Amino acid sequence: MAQTRVALVTGANRGIGLAIVRQLARLGVIAVMGSRSKASGLKAAAPLQAEGLITPVVALDVTDEASVRAAVAEVLGEFGRIDVLVNNAAILLDMPGAPASNVRAVPPALVRETYETNVIGALMMIQAVLPIMREQAYGRIVNLSSAAAQLHSMEAGYPAYRMSKTALNALTVTAAAELGAGPILINSMCPGWVNTKMGGPAAPRTVEQGADTAVWLATLPPDGPTGGFFHDKQPVDW
Ligand SMILES: NC(=O)c1ccc[n+]([C@@H]2O[C@H](COP(=O)([O-])OP(=O)(O)OC[C@H]3O[C@@H](n4cnc5c(N)ncnc54)[C@H](OP(=O)(O)O)[C@@H]3O)[C@@H](O)[C@H]2O)c1
Repeated sequence: MAQTRVALVTGANRGIGLAIVRQLARLGVIAVMGSRSKASGLKAAAPLQAEGLITPVVALDVTDEASVRAAVAEVLGEFGRIDVLVNNAAILLDMPGAPASNVRAVPPALVRETYETNVIGALMMIQAVLPIMREQAYGRIVNLSSAAAQLHSMEAGYPAYRMSKTALNALTVTAAAELGAGPILINSMCPGWVNTKMGGPAAPRTVEQGADTAVWLATLPPDGPTGGFFHDKQPVDW
């Protein structure tokens, strides 16, 4: 009988994270919703659970090491495994067009805060699940990055967010090199410009479109890629 996979998605109470959970759960995955506010997570989970989908909620603030450990322990205790980690939670504080959204003026404290969520948070999540994935000899890790991280086409503006997502990509490549060929695959992806609180109402893509490649990477076969950067299921330049 095929193993029922267990996924943990960070920042799953809204936006692309919620769509990733919905798509994974529709594939039969137990899709655990990490939510900074448990109440917000439970509210977002209700319609999915009404559909019959298995989408439990855990309280999870990725900037808080104790919260990360507790959430991972809770999922492991409840379901006995964690097959998939989707590092989706992120913040964009130096909004494009804002007066301080440039290297000259961005407050260092804002850059630090951005890194705490977008980089250190993802790192702590990976550190928490890797021993479990090694033990079960299976793992898929997906890091939600951005075209704003691509060095080959880097432009002006929102330096904190750009730097954080480029650092997240470095985390993907470093971890993949350390893991080598084996049962744990880790990749970055860009969802495109998506209509969410972060993307804004002018964004052309739906959350379902934004989630699609993350779900593909979360369910890769054993010979799937690792250490790559993808958009619409195609490799893209760093
Ligand atoms: N939307 C786009 O156009 C776009 C483009 C490129 C890349 N991305 C990437 O795609 C991912 C999802 O973006 P989105 O548009 O869905 O963003 P969003 O609508 O702003 O949602 C962000 C999610 O992250 C959560 N979050 C923030 N800080 C957290 C923390 N410390 N701990 C746990 N959760 C936290 C938020 O929770 P709260 O509700 O508690 O705040 C929320 O659930 C992000 O990594 C983003 O950088 C988005």
